[in-house]
Formats: sequence, C-alpha cells, structure tokens
Amino acid sequence: MTDWTREERYRRIEDVDVAFFKDLKRKVDQSKFRQTFHIQPETGLLNDPNGLIYYKGTYYVSHQWFPLGAVHGLKYWYNYTSKDLVSFEPHGPILKPDTKYDSHGVYSGSAFEYNDHLYYMYTGNHRDSDWNRHSSQMIARMAEDGTIEKFPKPVISQQPEGYTSHFRDPKVFKIDDRYYAILAAQNNEEQGRLLLYATDDIVNWKLLGEIKTHLTNFGYMWECPDYFKLDGYDVMLMCPQGLEADNDKYRNIYQSGYMIGDFDIDTLTFDHQSFIELDRGFDFYAPQTFTDENGQRILIGWMGLPEIEYPTDQEGWAHCLTIPRELTIEDGKLKQRPYKALEKLRHNKETALGYANKFTRKLHPYEGKQYELIIDVLENDATEIYFELRTSKTTSTVIAYNKEENKVTFDRSESGLLPANVEDMTRSTVLDTPLKKLQIFVDTSSIEIFCNDGERVLSSRIFPSEDAIGIKTSTETGQVYLQFTKYDLRNDI
Ligand code: FRU
Repeated sequence: MTDWTREERYRRIEDVDVAFFKDLKRKVDQSKFRQTFHIQPETGLLNDPNGLIYYKGTYYVSHQWFPLGAVHGLKYWYNYTSKDLVSFEPHGPILKPDTKYDSHGVYSGSAFEYNDHLYYMYTGNHRDSDWNRHSSQMIARMAEDGTIEKFPKPVISQQPEGYTSHFRDPKVFKIDDRYYAILAAQNNEEQGRLLLYATDDIVNWKLLGEIKTHLTNFGYMWECPDYFKLDGYDVMLMCPQGLEADNDKYRNIYQSGYMIGDFDIDTLTFDHQSFIELDRGFDFYAPQTFTDENGQRILIGWMGLPEIEYPTDQEGWAHCLTIPRELTIEDGKLKQRPYKALEKLRHNKETALGYANKFTRKLHPYEGKQYELIIDVLENDATEIYFELRTSKTTSTVIAYNKEENKVTFDRSESGLLPANVEDMTRSTVLDTPLKKLQIFVDTSSIEIFCNDGERVLSSRIFPSEDAIGIKTSTETGQVYLQFTKYDLRNDI
C-alpha cells in the first residue's frame, strides 16, 4: 500500500481538482470486485453506517466516507435515500468537515426526528496543532430542501472529567418525550465505557452518568454503542476494542456484539447476560439499528474492519455495508434474518433436490456470482458437509458443517485474493440447534451466511476471480439429503 502523508489524508474533496477525482472514479469503475446489491463507496473508503432513519416515508442511510482513497482520512457522511431499503438513490456528501469542531472528520452518529424535522447528532473530530484529539458532539438539522444546517457550536463540548478524548458515536433514542444519547467513551484507566446524556430541548444536554454494566475490564474502548427495546427486552450493542481471542470467539481485530438484559434508566443499571458477537465472519463492525415503516428493528453493519489491507485498496476503494437484517428476540435469543423486502431482487429461480456424498456432486444445474442460495438440510448422516461456492479450477470458498460438534466453519483460504493482516483463514461457530437451513447472499466480492433462520450470521469479503462461479457439495463420510433454491440477484445500487 502506498503510504499516505498526513496532508494527503486530510485533503478536502473541495480542494482536489476535478481531473484527479475523475481518474480515481474511472479506476474504481474498472474494478472487477464492484458489488451489485450492496452499498459501496463511489470512490475511496466507506466505514460505519450513520444516520439511519425512516422519516416521512423515506429511508435515509449514510456512511462514513473518505473520498480520495482507500485509507482512513478526513471523514464525510455520504448519503443515500430509499423507499424500500432495497434500491438506493445516492446524494453525495450530506455532512462535511467544514467547521472548526469537525475540521478533522465528521465522525459517526445517528438520526432522530424532533418537532417534525430530521436531525443528526454526530461527533466532531478536531486535532489541534500538536495533533491532540478533541471530540465534541454536534447537531445538524435537515431543512425542507434537504440542505443541512449545523448548530453553531457543539451541544456537548467535550468529554466529562475522568474520561479521555475517545468520546464519540452518539446514538439518540427517545423514551416518552425525552431524548437520550448513548455515547462511546474511554475512562482515564483506558477502559471502554458507555455514557448516557439526556435533553428536553435537544440544545441542552445533561450527563446522566456512566451506564453500570457487568463488564469492567473488557477492552480499552467501546465504539458505536446502540440501545433499544426489543420484544420486551433491553438490548445494548457496542464494539469493544482490545479483547483477546478466546477459542472461536473474538478472532477479528475488533469485536461487535450485543447484550440482552434489563436497563433501569433511573439508576443507569444494566443487568445483562454475556456479551455475544453479532457476526461470526471475518468482516463486520460498527452496526447501527433503526425501525422501519412497520416498526421492525433493522440492523445494518459495515462489512469491513479497520487496520486491514483489502485487495481493492490498490483500486482506490474499499468496503461496503451489509444487507439490512431484521432483529427479533425469540426464546430469549437474538435472531437476525435478511430483510424481507430483499426478495424483490430475486429472479431466475432454480431448484434441486437430492443426495450428496463424499464424491463431490453437482446437485444443481446452476452457477453464479450474485445470488441468494437457500439450502434446506432435510436428512443428514454425514460427518461433515462441504458447501463450496465461487469455485474455479483453483479457487473455492468453503462452508463446512461438522455434525458431531454442531459447528459451522467458514474457510476463505482458497477463495482468491486475500486481505492482509488477518489472523487465521477460518471462522467457526457452534450452532444452538442442528443445521437445518443456510440462507446465503453472494455478491461479486462478499458472502453473508445466515444459519438456521437467524441463529447465526457470518459475513465476509471474498475476492475470487471472474471465472469462479461454480457451486459444489460433498461430504467427508456419509450422505446428506438437500433441497437447494437459488435466485439470481442484481440491483446495481
Ligand atoms: C468506528 C469508528 C467510530 C468513529 C468512526 C470514524 O469504525 O472508529 O468510532 O466515529 O469510525 O470514521
């Protein structure tokens, strides 16, 4: 990767000549890894989803954006709107680093409705001349014509006493008529924490205090928190940094997970079960939730992680968002299913029914690069089943299921080009119940695997060659009886 100087990273898009941007765009458009039904950056680097809301009949989905290359530089918010969370209209940057408070990045934040208007609350990232970080929390209001007016100064000017300047990512929520913001923080002992603020008028925000959880020593920073009620439970999400890997758990550089429990907002006590990762694949971070037009809780994440080099970096772009997922809690467990409306993308249905055994079988007459594949496991006597996707003569992306351990393992070691600085080639998870169903979304350079109707999700980027289109099934020993349903998907968002 070319080394970017600080000047290059903090160059504003407005100061770059048109020719540079056109060249970059041309290079990005030529990439063989461009996605077809995922939100991806026009150029440069995409990270966290921001400002997700259904407001007056329209969905707003923004993302963190550094336009000029595949590095974490000066961040903007790039905005899309949608009528159905399936097709999206791009609108370009909606929040720009144009005040002294956000001069070094419009960092992550959320959207909310107040007095009939759409507002954003986000973190202003500022560096002083000694490159010390100053984080403040800002508010911006969207005018009728879609333009943005920032409040003249931050509504929370700095972190409270006892915390460092790693203080960011406000997620606003409303209970009765009061607005609250949950914030990511780091205490002076360099431990991750969550802070809660409240307001009655959105201008004056009062610190209620630190949320008391059962986690005291759990990483040095908890980024991108979220809080919501779901099916009678309180749920908190956060992204801890600095956890050690623990067998199959916490294998990525940073984690992203949830805790289910009971939150007493008066005493700020969150009595919760253990922290569980939201996704067991290689590439998932910084998700945010909101409610759709039916009041259903929806989650969208960043299908990427910081500090990893991806094969598309060379092409001037990196990352994408995940498909939206519907969240529910069933029998006390969080379930994540693909957003129902994505069914609109389906065409060319193909099905196959049959046995597979240890001799690699082509159960199915199809192949592809962008599709949804539903595999129903009807009978299984196999010790291990291997589903291979995006296969060519030399590459294969493997999902293995071991019956005895009840474990799903995703293996991308032979899947094509690989991201650098990633530990290990596989990610595994033990299911709650024997494997009955896989619902897999494959796009040009990604795979999202939903196991057992929302029980587990594994999301990963893959970078196979263009001829890697095969689908194969085999077993170690024994046989498996399967029903395959495949739909081609295409959207070009
Ligand atoms: C998470 C994060 C956030 C921050 C943003 C900056 O990926 O580090 O904590 O607001 O990215 O781009």
